[in-house]
Amino acid sequence: MKSALSLETVATCSTTKARVNKLILPHGLVDTPVFMPVGTQGSLKGFTPKAIEDMNCQIMLNNTYHLGLKPGQEILDQVGGSHAFQNWNGNLLTDSGGFQMVSLLKLAEITEQGVQFQSPHDGSLMMLTPEHSMSLQNSIGSDIMMQLDDVISSLTTGPRVEEAMWRSIRWLDRCIKAHQKPETQNLFAIIQGGLNPDLRKLCIDEMVKRDTPGYAVGGLSGGEEKEEFWKIVTLCTDLLPKSKPVYCMGVGYAEDLVVCVALGVDMFDCVYPTRTARFGNALTMNGIISLKSGKYGTDFGPIEQGCGCDTCRDYTRSYINLVSRDPVGGRLVSVHNVYFQLRLMREMREAIKRDEFPSYVKQFFKSYFKESS
Ligand code: GUN
Ligand code: ZN
Repeated sequence: MKSALSLETVATCSTTKARVNKLILPHGLVDTPVFMPVGTQGSLKGFTPKAIEDMNCQIMLNNTYHLGLKPGQEILDQVGGSHAFQNWNGNLLTDSGGFQMVSLLKLAEITEQGVQFQSPHDGSLMMLTPEHSMSLQNSIGSDIMMQLDDVISSLTTGPRVEEAMWRSIRWLDRCIKAHQKPETQNLFAIIQGGLNPDLRKLCIDEMVKRDTPGYAVGGLSGGEEKEEFWKIVTLCTDLLPKSKPVYCMGVGYAEDLVVCVALGVDMFDCVYPTRTARFGNALTMNGIISLKSGKYGTDFGPIEQGCGCDTCRDYTRSYINLVSRDPVGGRLVSVHNVYFQLRLMREMREAIKRDEFPSYVKQFFKSYFKESS
């Protein structure tokens, strides 16, 4: 199908599958491997889009489900989409909505037609179909739009796994048909199939035939064993076309980012860095530190020596400990944590370009798991 992106390989690691690409999207360049912070309600919790831009973030994630409810399609159409609405000039990726509904709303019910749910505003029954998700994402104007998929927990076994995989393929076909702007917006397929390698292979075969501009690996990072997770990611990056970007959905722990980059993944997203920040947890290259614990009450250094973020420039661990129960504390740690993720990705890209990625990985694991509190 038509695509509105190009992928140019800059460097590949000689001993792992890690690769550095220039991904050119309608709103500019994205250097991959990339971590995409998640702005659920149009902006990252506690950030203005300008603050995200100042961190040199080239792409962020929005959710169709949230934007479709508020501000809603009519207002999005009036202002000309989410870039204009948020005054965000970088790239946007939107998740299709099904995952958010299934994970947030206990009342969501999946049928062949789509995902049915109760509106959190007035309790009325609403239905998100592949057609409706595409229409909303066309109104949002995201640079990358995700197909509506039938999402199940990664721990589900039995016939439901195969049913969800085939339904995701049928829904992809409906998304392709409903997509109004393939010249300016890229539709990504989402590989499902649980932890079953045969189902994953089947799904990849079918979805690669559809020739979408990129592919995501879905249905992972839901509490499965790491070995199983790595096995499925390995299978996917082995079988998916090298000429297209591969996106591992919902992955954001630093150790998972490092391993998945080695396995050849290009794109990641996760609410983890901002969510854990609101609990007072700061990510550093020397491990995760709890700024709520009181241990840092008289520590007048920054969260992390040498970090270039606004929080580390202006505030001490001691001050952040004091305000850690206030929204401002969450915001300060969020800024640092998102910056940390972006910096980790940049350091990996630089190591791959120098062909020193394996030693970077070794050094990362040694320091990240050295101390934690
Ligand atoms: N976010 C994390 N995992 C998934 C998934 O499998 N599908 C979708 N649409 N979003 C996700
Ligand atoms: Zn910092």
